[in-house]
Amino acid sequence: MTLSKATRLRGEITVPGDKSISHRAVMFGALADGTTEVTNFLQGADCLSTIDCFRRMGIDIENTPERILIHGRGLHGLKAPSSALDAGNSGTTTRLLSGILSAQPFVTTLTGDASIQKRPMRRIIEPLSLMGADIASVNGNDCAPLRIAGAPLHGISYRSRIASAQVKSAILLAGLYADGVTSVTEPALSRNHTEIMLRYFGADVTSEGTTASVLPEPTLTGQKISVPGDISSAAYFIAAGLLVPDSEILIRNVGINPTRSGILTVAQAMGGDITYLNVRDEGEPTADLLVKYSQLHGTVIEGDLIPTLIDELPIINIMAACAEGTTVVRNAEELRAKESNRIDVMVEHLSAMGCRITGTDDGMVIEGGSPLHGTVIDPHMDHRIAMSFAVASLVAEGETKITDNDIVAVSYPHFYDDLQKLTC
Ligand code: S3P
Repeated sequence: MTLSKATRLRGEITVPGDKSISHRAVMFGALADGTTEVTNFLQGADCLSTIDCFRRMGIDIENTPERILIHGRGLHGLKAPSSALDAGNSGTTTRLLSGILSAQPFVTTLTGDASIQKRPMRRIIEPLSLMGADIASVNGNDCAPLRIAGAPLHGISYRSRIASAQVKSAILLAGLYADGVTSVTEPALSRNHTEIMLRYFGADVTSEGTTASVLPEPTLTGQKISVPGDISSAAYFIAAGLLVPDSEILIRNVGINPTRSGILTVAQAMGGDITYLNVRDEGEPTADLLVKYSQLHGTVIEGDLIPTLIDELPIINIMAACAEGTTVVRNAEELRAKESNRIDVMVEHLSAMGCRITGTDDGMVIEGGSPLHGTVIDPHMDHRIAMSFAVASLVAEGETKITDNDIVAVSYPHFYDDLQKLTC
């Protein structure tokens, strides 16, 4: 994909459904009694991997462009798959499914693509083993493939060293099958979609501060779920609208759950003109966001804010590169454990575009304001790197070539078409 500088962006856009919520709708629908109907489901490669894994375990899932229907078989209704389950590029599939598989009466191998096979799994192997799970990294390197043999599980009170919704969710899902209450305390609150949606399906889930707890053996009942637009996908258009002079974009139906909306807090702290319209709250809060071109300035991003914008840091880096002054990102060492090492990759590519950026152990320092110029971007199998640099290309001199056209399909199959529609 070759992209070049834009004059301005104008118009309305509706981004695809939230990836985290779409995964959970399939998983919890599969474990519920009765049918779950999901609208605005994200038809991205990651969520299709989740569908595939549950189909392979005997769950009937009808997938049409309008809606998906998951015919759940209850908490104990999964069947042994005939061969290894493939999570593709999806960390959420791998980690959440591991929690569920730890309690099933069969042995499974769970694997994924080259990127997934490099991502850390000790973070789930350790707490699930404490619960009694029989789970091991096949190659002994704490990464997938994982071999998981179902076992009787005990409830635990786990204090996690990292704020990770994938870790928290894996433990809570295993907790559905444990012999007592299971709780997870995080250093800072990570996205809480599991807690909200499990409660909606009928589980007894409580949240207090950064601790979430679940009681075992609930009866989950099939539900209707309308998935809000993914703020992580909206983030590229928020940034594009703020950065390209004379732009004005209305982004409809964006999920603004406070555990996910750190990008809005940061964009406004940087001087971004963003108006919330039509705010609604039906379990997961949503709004339409009106974004106007703004002259941004640098800021400091750290502490409890980090988990609320962890997936948006690559595009926030692009905003910082175009802002006046310095932006400092701290406490974001988790960026090294994503689809790519997002500290190293952002430093590599933003430097190549002319930005003054220095990587640190747990973040980066960006001296904004240097003019950017086009270059060749290898996204390193990371959809968010590809989309972030597509936005950078809109304000860079010359052409930017992104080498992997297909990787955006992980979370946003029509990303380039939608971007094109807004270009005047
Ligand atoms: C996700 C949690 C986050 C996020 C990922 C999706 C989820 O990962 O980066 O894209 O759906 O639970 P961590 O929980 O590992 O931070």
